[in-house]
Amino acid sequence: MTSRFLFLLGSARKDGNTELLARRAAEALPEEVEQQWIHLEEAALPRFVDHRHTGEEIPQPVGVEKELLNATLAATDVVLATPLYWYNVSGSTKVMLDYWAGWLKVPGLDFRARMNGKTLWTIMALGDEDFSTAEPALATLEMTGSYLGMRWGGVLNGYSSAPGQVLEDEAALRRAGTFLAPAHDRAAAPTA
Ligand SMILES: Cc1cc2nc3c(=O)[nH]c(=O)nc-3n(C[C@H](O)[C@H](O)[C@H](O)COP(=O)(O)O)c2cc1C
Repeated sequence: MTSRFLFLLGSARKDGNTELLARRAAEALPEEVEQQWIHLEEAALPRFVDHRHTGEEIPQPVGVEKELLNATLAATDVVLATPLYWYNVSGSTKVMLDYWAGWLKVPGLDFRARMNGKTLWTIMALGDEDFSTAEPALATLEMTGSYLGMRWGGVLNGYSSAPGQVLEDEAALRRAGTFLAPAHDRAAAPTA
């Protein structure tokens, strides 16, 4: 099966460090790997509403929500490219993860079974050289992926504050060149 990477950009600004780092990592993907990029702020998902426990059927996703759902289901690999905001994922990334909880309850969707086996990757820019400060974010992401039976691809982090600064983090750029490498192997593996 051809790999299809969905890059979900979660910064509250365009062309920021997280996106730059994600683009570097994506450049190393072979051509046959499909890519889709969604800037979450631009997509402008409405605020998440918890429809559970109302006694009524959870509504089927429509509009932007449906587009995001379809993109998510079509992906073999989901890359959450989020800056570190207050030791955790950005607001738009968190809202999107809240939608995942909603989709678990949409009748007929079978969201958990369809997420099972996809790989969840994280690319993160942060303004602290001590990456241990990102532990709450990584716990959020790893545990959410694990809840859905997703594989954990790992995290690529880059030190930066002002836009573009991540391009000075040579170690991060080096890692970006091979970060998604396991996906190359999968793309190259003969299919049974
Ligand atoms: C709301 C907000 C919260 C932030 N919180 C943290 C933080 O907890 N730890 C940290 O190291 N950097 C923090 N930063 C700095 C950003 O992670 C850093 O500037 C990063 O390069 C932004 O990525 P971007 O250019 O992709 O938006 C914060 C920035 C903002 C705007």
